[in-house]
Amino acid sequence: MSSLPYLDPTLPTARRVADLIGRMTLPEKVGQMLQLTARDGVRHLVEEFHVGSILHASPERVREAAELARHSRLGIPLLVAEDCIHGHSFWEGATIFPTQLGMAAAWDAELVERVARVTAVEVAATGVHWTFSPVLCIARDLRWGRVSETFGEDPFLIGEFASAMVRGYQGDGLADPTAILACAKHFAGYSETQGGRDASEADISRRKLRSWFLPPFERVAREGCRTFMLGYQSMDGVPVTVNDWLLNEVLRGEWGYRGTLVTDWDNVGRMVWEQHIFPDFTAASAAAVKAGNDMVMTTPDFFEGAQDAVAKGLLEESELDAAVTRILTLKFELGLFENPRHPDPARQAEVIGVAAHAELNLEVARRSLVLLRNDGTLPLAGGLTAGPDGRAAAPDAPARTVAIVGPNADDPHTQLGDWAGASGQAEWLPDGHPREMITTVLDGFREVVPAGWTVTHARGADIVVTGPDPEGEFFPDGQPRPDVALPAAPDEALIAAAVADASRADYVVAVVGDRIELVGEYRSTATLELVGGQAALLDALAATGKPLIVVLLSSKPLVLPPSVSEAAAIVYAANPGMRGGRAVAELLLGLIEPSGRLPISFARHAGQQPTYYNQVRGQHGHRYADLTQAPAFAFGQGLSYTTVEYSGLRVLTPTVGVGDTVRAQVELRNTGARPALETVQAYVSDTVTSVTWAEQELKAYRQVSLAAGESRLVELELPVSACSIVDARGARVVEPGEFELRVGPSSRAEDLQRAGFTVVV
Ligand code: NOJ
Repeated sequence: MSSLPYLDPTLPTARRVADLIGRMTLPEKVGQMLQLTARDGVRHLVEEFHVGSILHASPERVREAAELARHSRLGIPLLVAEDCIHGHSFWEGATIFPTQLGMAAAWDAELVERVARVTAVEVAATGVHWTFSPVLCIARDLRWGRVSETFGEDPFLIGEFASAMVRGYQGDGLADPTAILACAKHFAGYSETQGGRDASEADISRRKLRSWFLPPFERVAREGCRTFMLGYQSMDGVPVTVNDWLLNEVLRGEWGYRGTLVTDWDNVGRMVWEQHIFPDFTAASAAAVKAGNDMVMTTPDFFEGAQDAVAKGLLEESELDAAVTRILTLKFELGLFENPRHPDPARQAEVIGVAAHAELNLEVARRSLVLLRNDGTLPLAGGLTAGPDGRAAAPDAPARTVAIVGPNADDPHTQLGDWAGASGQAEWLPDGHPREMITTVLDGFREVVPAGWTVTHARGADIVVTGPDPEGEFFPDGQPRPDVALPAAPDEALIAAAVADASRADYVVAVVGDRIELVGEYRSTATLELVGGQAALLDALAATGKPLIVVLLSSKPLVLPPSVSEAAAIVYAANPGMRGGRAVAELLLGLIEPSGRLPISFARHAGQQPTYYNQVRGQHGHRYADLTQAPAFAFGQGLSYTTVEYSGLRVLTPTVGVGDTVRAQVELRNTGARPALETVQAYVSDTVTSVTWAEQELKAYRQVSLAAGESRLVELELPVSACSIVDARGARVVEPGEFELRVGPSSRAEDLQRAGFTVVV
């Protein structure tokens, strides 16, 4: 056996692949293209379906499947895949970071890369080779259930962070034993579905795709992201799975992408039973292969369907070979035939959930918090400093009482958010990650308040009550139907207990938001208001007159009730990960400085959707008859515990050619008594465009540390080639003429300094 060419590591990969394909039967080839869930065991997957890949496998099943594959006829190793999207989601005790939305709020690509690197190191030790991350969807409708999985609403930021994440996962290349395959998803336009409804038809033109939705994908495709996952949805009637224009003309053609494509969950089956565009699995399987899909996720019927298609002459075996070649090439390049990268318990003990990773996690959580409002109440007690034990010290200040209230103040699962522990996609962690690894906001306060301070806790309200879905236990595709969530009624006793605590306290910290039943696939929301008893709780707390700090700990921007619009302070903590509660406590007490900036706009009302900042110009007026169109908090917003003044924006290159770089400078002055990490944002507005275009778009940003009282001249650079639009023919072009550079601390018009430049031919 070992003399077979495909087992000879000295031969070139192409030679080994060709040799192996030559030995495979038709069922083995079709099986190689299948990725099936290990939920119901793995033996039948390897022995009957000859699968090339498995997903959602418990640690025991990963080991079992690897052993079975080793003993299969040709001994082809499996690719083991998992959604490790903010840490090794379903590995008990792994480091779970803030969600992508939380990471994005740090506006720091290097930090995101470090998160991905640490994740890869943890994942690689467990026999998993492939993560379905990052998500490059643009979150434009806040009702969508998967906003937390995105980097927010701006294509440029998404490209920056996705690129960083891919680098982090793929490390020094596939031969690196700590590298895992990254997967850019969901290609493309998935988030642009109607009414925020998950996976419905997306009303999106090719030009709109090219304008905003494709650029982040193009960037990671060109930078070597090894795999792409295709969205569920159809566009202009064509499911992405068979969208020849998108997959072949654009991705494989224009961008020259040579990586591997995986469908999303049962995309091939959905074309039969959900989208009704094929009469049977034979036709659907043939079309999926012809369109260039390599790996078919969880459509077991593809196994018979593709073979039947070959038998009926709908598909050539050589068309399967192209896909199988790509899959086997990945396996050879990962070196799996020599070292299948099985789970390594010794390595796991060395790297999973270790202190250095927890430290990075705390750093990301700190950076992810966005201070949205502050009347001066924060930092509490005027700001404390950390003693040597990390606890705040307040030797001369009177001891205070802090009432921690709200349903998310001590909820370990919500703190981690979707795709982690007990979020529902994996059945082997019913209780989630070890409780002791998670610091809730309540835990965080108890850990860091100065000695002598009192911390009380009252839940105050529930968000949802759940019950079985009346439509049955499973969806037609076999995925379990989650329980349905119903709003919990306000509970007078819970509210009274919270109000009693609040009345005795110096400060009230109300931690409200959503929870997993309202988040994720199949769980878009019609409204954005706080669900359940939370609004009544906030109304009652506001009425106590005590300084009220609202911490919105939620998967996505939500709408706060009017009673707290004038609260002492508002902080946004997107599901902030295992150390998030500690970060919140440190922020409120002033042990750290707030530095997060919104990567997504907050609406005032669900009816304002969409509220993203880079909307296309041209409408009658700029308000609804009954409400402004302005968001509650805009893209880029976020406060510090000091103020930073911008002045003297100057473009140093007032006339530039298309191949040049625009250089500008702006003066920043920290006018307060505390340091700041300021995110200087540079937007460009193209004054006259041949087609309607966004009023302004983010093109560059820089983070600058400023000590109290410090002034600095900050230089900004952006390539003129980035000042482009997509014209009526769908071509991306820079149109010479007048442009305006806008620089400031957020995307709001009132925050931006302006200076013109001209692009000449
Ligand atoms: C469906 C989701 O849309 C996708 O993001 C995920 O990677 C797969 N299921 C696998 O869990």
